[in-house]
Amino acid sequence: ESSEKQTIFKAYSLAAKLYQHILFQTDYGDPAREYMKRRGISSETAEVFELGFAPDSWDFVTQFYEKRGFNLALMHKAGILAQRDFDRKYFDLFRNRLIFPIADSQGKIIAFGGRILNDAQPKYLNSPEHPFFNKSRILFNLHRAKNEIRRKRQVILFEGYMDVIAAWEAGVRNGVASLGTSFTEEQAKIIKRNADQVVICYDSDSPGIEAAMKAAYILQAAECQVRVVRFEDGLDPDEYIKKYGKDKFIATLNQSLTVTSFKMEYLRKRHDVSDEQERLVFIHEMLKQISSLRSAVERDHYLRLLAEEFHYSLEALKEEQRKLFYQQK
Ligand code: UTP
Ligand code: MN
Ligand code: MN
Ligand code: MN
Ligand code: MN
Repeated sequence: ESSEKQTIFKAYSLAAKLYQHILFQTDYGDPAREYMKRRGISSETAEVFELGFAPDSWDFVTQFYEKRGFNLALMHKAGILAQRDFDRKYFDLFRNRLIFPIADSQGKIIAFGGRILNDAQPKYLNSPEHPFFNKSRILFNLHRAKNEIRRKRQVILFEGYMDVIAAWEAGVRNGVASLGTSFTEEQAKIIKRNADQVVICYDSDSPGIEAAMKAAYILQAAECQVRVVRFEDGLDPDEYIKKYGKDKFIATLNQSLTVTSFKMEYLRKRHDVSDEQERLVFIHEMLKQISSLRSAVERDHYLRLLAEEFHYSLEALKEEQRKLFYQQK
């Protein structure tokens, strides 16, 4: 391993320890500990996730690196420091943020996610990519969840760090999250190496539902069995756990939908099926979805559901579905 790589790992690990120290051992950490309390993160969980706090300062880690003789230009290249345009001076990228260390699959910290404590934007800031951090190949919490994932052959896929953490506190220890970017084929391949089934547990707001549909197709293309969870009132998993408790959360996880049922619910919201024209569009979209199913038994199952609910003949639906099937070939 190159010495540059070693230095970057070392720099991340030291910064993480420093942020952790600030959060737990100093008065500077007060606002962040208050924030954690408000969000229901216990100290034990904060310790497991190695959470920290970047104080509201422009040069807190910058000075630390300088004193320790780190090359600041390298720290900038590694995505830990930012650089001012007008005089090329380096400064702290993470300020006034709760820090979520992001590790590779071996558990080496290679990036940070930082949540602002107030409602300034952006809400989350992630380290930019660097030579040893490719966002599309990292899943938050994979190294901690790996044993449980392999034991259950199942992954619970979340949108946010806070969802993974809330689920962990609720006893769900096979949760991971993509990093604010959309879910990628590479991430699906990594999951497939460790599990057979993926339960997508994204936010139930409209961007979450759209993103869940996309992730479902990517995971199916990677030959994972996919289920999708929906929460009431557009909540995200963290909010749902806080509102209804862990037992109801786990019950809801266990009531996950197949991709086709999820798509049906999704399309129903987008099309007013009481309108004749809209209903036909809905049916057409559903038939496309059904055509993508490999199992004849499954296709038959959903065709029957549609026939019964919308009073079409099963024969007509089958005929249309077969046409679409050949068009897709
Ligand atoms: P959400 O907006 O759903 O975040 O984005 P959240 O976890 O529910 O946030 P809280 O509960 O208000 O703290 C989901 C994920 O998208 C990424 C982060 O990884 C976040 O966890 N994200 C979100 C960003 O990278 N930047 C943003 O500004 C917002
Ligand atoms: Mn969201
Ligand atoms: Mn959310
Ligand atoms: Mn949100
Ligand atoms: Mn949230």
